[in-house]
Amino acid sequence: MPHFLEIFRTDANDLRRIIAAAKSMKSARLGLPKAALDQKRPLAGHMIALIFEKPSTRTRVSFDVGVRQLGGETIVLSRNDMQLGHGETIADSARVLSRYVDLIVLRTFEEAVIHEMAEYATVPVINGLTNRTHPCQVMADVMTFEEHRGSLADKKVVWVGDGTNVCASFLQASAKFDFKLTYCGPTELRPDDEFVNFAVAAGAAVTFERDIERAMDGADLVVTDTWISMHDSKDTSSEREALLRPYQVTEAVMRLAKADALFMHCLPAHRGEEVTSDVMDGSQSVIWDEAENRLHVQKAIMRWCLNQ
Ligand code: CP
Ligand code: NVA
Repeated sequence: MPHFLEIFRTDANDLRRIIAAAKSMKSARLGLPKAALDQKRPLAGHMIALIFEKPSTRTRVSFDVGVRQLGGETIVLSRNDMQLGHGETIADSARVLSRYVDLIVLRTFEEAVIHEMAEYATVPVINGLTNRTHPCQVMADVMTFEEHRGSLADKKVVWVGDGTNVCASFLQASAKFDFKLTYCGPTELRPDDEFVNFAVAAGAAVTFERDIERAMDGADLVVTDTWISMHDSKDTSSEREALLRPYQVTEAVMRLAKADALFMHCLPAHRGEEVTSDVMDGSQSVIWDEAENRLHVQKAIMRWCLNQ
């Protein structure tokens, strides 16, 4: 079953094919009149369940729009709409949903939930973010870099700040797309060894650098994420803020990278915390392209899952 659960579980050639398909679907839409846009409907007759146990703007809207552009239909469900999380097991939910829908997109808390859903579902499951990973985001980020600067292979990506779920998917991607990844942040908030060890064992060049000046030297891409992720306890927010404040991405920090370095953020951002507004709105920032490319890359992921 072609689930899309974590970047490291998908073959590098398939990842590459997904990005190529996303680029060609994106360019095929450019300049077309609205009436011509819905002629190709590879997901006609398909019903897609979009399940969100956490809030979402981009993932929810881009999947919903993407399914409709491909001619399919969606059912969007939140934690409160379902028995899932209120006593019914994940396995039973997976078995039942598989009798109604052709594909399940799930945003949840524990990574184990998405794996259990995939184990018992008889339809493909796509990871729409867990506490530990966010593969669709990083596929859009790879696509975005390549649109602006060409191949990511051998480029230096610097992840600044908290080693979040998005950072973990970047680590997985570093092994699949052959880029160098430097983590620059406090030791306490480093990404889990499991992700680092996987990337290193798969041949990726992963380094750690607490000093932001040294980390940014030669950077082609600078990426950060919120200081407090959705699953993080609010009780520890002041400690986290103290650890992360030295790693705010400012214009001065961006000047330490290569002159043509790009800036990315999965969004939502907290302006003035992990990144300043001048960087968000500056000429190196490609954050809106990243958000747009969620739509294109997820259409390609869904088509890959459904072989359509
Ligand atoms: N980047 C991202 O996944 O955004 P949402 O939480 O709004 O879906
Ligand atoms: N690290 C963030 C990403 C949001 C898209 C979170 O999990 O809240």
